[in-house]
Amino acid sequence: MEPAVDLAIVGGGVIGCSVAYHATRRGGRVALVEAERIGSGASGAAAGMLNAQAEAHEPGPFLDLLLSSRRLHGPLGEELYEATGLDPEYVWAGTLRVATDEAFREIFAAEYSWQREQGLAARWLDADEIRELEPNLSSESVAALYLPEDGQVNPPRLVQALALGATLGGARVMEATSAEGLVVKGRRVTGVRTARGEIPAGAVVLAGGASATLLSNQLGVHLPVHPVKGEILAVNARPAPVRVNIWNSECYVVPKRDGRVVIGATEEPGVYDRRPTLGGVAHLSRAAVNLVPELSRAPFASAWGGLRPGTPDGEPILGPVEGWEGLFLATGHYRNGVLLSAITGESIAALALGETSPFDVSPFSQNRFAESVTR
Ligand code: FAD
Ligand code: GLY
Repeated sequence: MEPAVDLAIVGGGVIGCSVAYHATRRGGRVALVEAERIGSGASGAAAGMLNAQAEAHEPGPFLDLLLSSRRLHGPLGEELYEATGLDPEYVWAGTLRVATDEAFREIFAAEYSWQREQGLAARWLDADEIRELEPNLSSESVAALYLPEDGQVNPPRLVQALALGATLGGARVMEATSAEGLVVKGRRVTGVRTARGEIPAGAVVLAGGASATLLSNQLGVHLPVHPVKGEILAVNARPAPVRVNIWNSECYVVPKRDGRVVIGATEEPGVYDRRPTLGGVAHLSRAAVNLVPELSRAPFASAWGGLRPGTPDGEPILGPVEGWEGLFLATGHYRNGVLLSAITGESIAALALGETSPFDVSPFSQNRFAESVTR
């Protein structure tokens, strides 16, 4: 069968939509299938922090991936706005990692030290300097690591902009369309089977987030991806009581451009139920008010949950699948899928179209979990 498209992408989260967008920018013919709605998975649930430095714990390929992706977001946002008229609402004000006790002061001081050695922008703040930067933080905040180049975005807006940008570039984006299986010829994946029929494709990208394993299992490729449930909520507060992303050991507080302050997030490995619970809302509310007392007066807006695609080392699984032609992985982005969407889209689109990736994603190959992958 002749390929109807160069790329069939399974999953319409921020990762699948970014691969679709970047593939159309490279001239690829693209079809994307999404079982529910675009952005209805983890991507629509995210806080949207672009924490390349706040989420990194040591120098190495993962830090390089995070930093490279953060660099791509600035131009990507401008390009998307130009192409679609949708503003993903980027804010580049930084992230403040706040210590309320000696143990966390030591942890963040160590982070500060290696980040400075790497030449990264980072400032160490004492209690007075914290209050200068963020006067509404509680007096429990004793020291903080300020990472001024981290940022944030509105994740549902980013996903919509990527999907619209892909559509305007000629991609066929199909919602309410579940991929039920992969079409295989010998050791080559030649398309995707859906309830609406087959989509013959030159290559297939699995970007199904926490559910990506369902299709790969069909080929005997067992990916170590598991759901890590996160509950999260929002209040209305304009003007916001804080200017930058604030994150301590109990919660984070993210002031959005649309007048909400997002407060997250719990972490529950292995839980598939996405609904927020009273316990989760109670925990986050208490933690946020301890951190920023002013928030106790903010009207409650909403609470929701999502399933992060977790991996054993917290890093994504990217690139081709050994032993299978035409199959590419873009999943396992755990806490950083929104941030990593830019570099994942750019790299996986290139590889799956048979071109050279501008970034070496080989350290994130599924081979690093060789013992849990069978063929
Ligand atoms: P998803 O968004 O889950 O998308 C996968 C899509 O695939 C789904 O829409 C699903 O319906 C579809 N799908 C699955 N199987 C099939 C199939 N067979 N056929 C068709 N469609 C299928 N990241 C950050 O960078 N910064 C943050 O601040 C941040 N905060 C977070 C806060 C919370 C509470 C949570 C839960 C996550 C957060 N994350 C954050 C992580 C980020 O949301 C994820 O890493 C990212 O969204 C993963 O994107 P994805 O496209 O792989 O998965
Ligand atoms: N990156 C924030 C979260 O996953 O909750």
